[in-house]
Amino acid sequence: EDPSNAIFSLEAKKGSKTFFQGINTPTYGYNGDFLGPVIRVNKGQNVTINVRNSLDEHTTTHWHGLIVDGDNDGGPHQMIKSDEIWEANFMIEQPAATLWYHPHIMDITGKQVYMGLAGLFYIDDEISASLDIPKDYGVDDIPLIIQDRSFDRNGNLVYDFPQNMMNDGMIGDIIMINGTVNPNFQIRKDLMRFRILNGSNANLYTIRISDNSTFYQIASDGGFLEKPVSLKELTLSSGERAEILVDFSSYTKGDVPSLVVNNNTALNFEIDDVENSSYAIPEYLTEVPRIDIEKASNQRAFRLQGMGNMVSINGKIMDMSRIDEFVSLNSTEIWEVTTVGQMMHSLGHPFHIHGVKFQVISRNDNPPPENEMGWKDTVMVYPAETVKVIMQFTKPGLFMYHCHNLEHEDAGMMGQFKVE
Ligand code: C2O
Ligand code: CU
Ligand code: CU
Repeated sequence: EDPSNAIFSLEAKKGSKTFFQGINTPTYGYNGDFLGPVIRVNKGQNVTINVRNSLDEHTTTHWHGLIVDGDNDGGPHQMIKSDEIWEANFMIEQPAATLWYHPHIMDITGKQVYMGLAGLFYIDDEISASLDIPKDYGVDDIPLIIQDRSFDRNGNLVYDFPQNMMNDGMIGDIIMINGTVNPNFQIRKDLMRFRILNGSNANLYTIRISDNSTFYQIASDGGFLEKPVSLKELTLSSGERAEILVDFSSYTKGDVPSLVVNNNTALNFEIDDVENSSYAIPEYLTEVPRIDIEKASNQRAFRLQGMGNMVSINGKIMDMSRIDEFVSLNSTEIWEVTTVGQMMHSLGHPFHIHGVKFQVISRNDNPPPENEMGWKDTVMVYPAETVKVIMQFTKPGLFMYHCHNLEHEDAGMMGQFKVE
């Protein structure tokens, strides 16, 4: 563990970016014009992050997946007014993982994320450092923030959508990777590690390689899986992350495999001549001890209902002055999350809980797939599904649980729990 201090500064600001040649698109970004820097910390570190709000509207900055007390979580209560600075302070006590940060302001989270406010947050520890996997940032360890956007004919981002029965949140027609439309990426004939974030407002992404080759998921939201899980495709809902290994060693120069997202080519890989793979797919990654369900002292039910802007949890919409659930510090609980009253065009609801990392116990009473056996903080709950999760609450304070479809969240599909 690393006992040092780390200090970061973020500035939420307006900017503009050229997504299409010759066209300037007004955007928001952290420190730059669109998205934000990767914040990288070690387990054990004492971290300070100063967030300046240079927008002309309020914002907050939430560390999605980070297990810290409620006051430093960056939820709707940690408001940063225009021209003000918020200082977050916390110790990193959880295993290596790919987390992220984004605004969490009441009613306009969706718009602020859509305009470009989001960034990755990596935690490293002894295990991530010692595993024999690609870990050279930008070389063989590549972040992939996947988002979809719509632009109007002047190149402006369109955050405006009809709230009707055909529309369940802001879903754009253009897939972007790391804020770039149609990128090419030069790739070694080697094993590559991609850290994928579904950073969309409301979309589900099914990801595959264009030739349907096998890849290996090595981590979920909260860190490494016990062992790599071989897959041909992977579905991530808004807010979920996965790390995957893709072996490019058998391609030859001139091949152009691509990353396909919802059947659209999202990223072209240009195969380089460089040497063959020096890495192998590891057999084992780390221990992920299952939480004993006997340890749970309480069980709660959450009913996710509706679509569009007619959404609720247990029949209620978010009220910042109402605490919906009280949880005892250090207790273990099972939460049962059910999607009810789904209409035809609804995708379901990605359910996210702040301040914890959880394990999925079951989907409709069946065991979860192998790649959901690791630590999670967001889980997709499909129409007519009941998902049970178990977690221990180790940090005190006021936290949110909500649907990570940001339009649902902004419409009130969120509740508060207090750990004390
Ligand atoms: Cu990624 Cu409460 O959010
Ligand atoms: Cu969160
Ligand atoms: Cu939802």
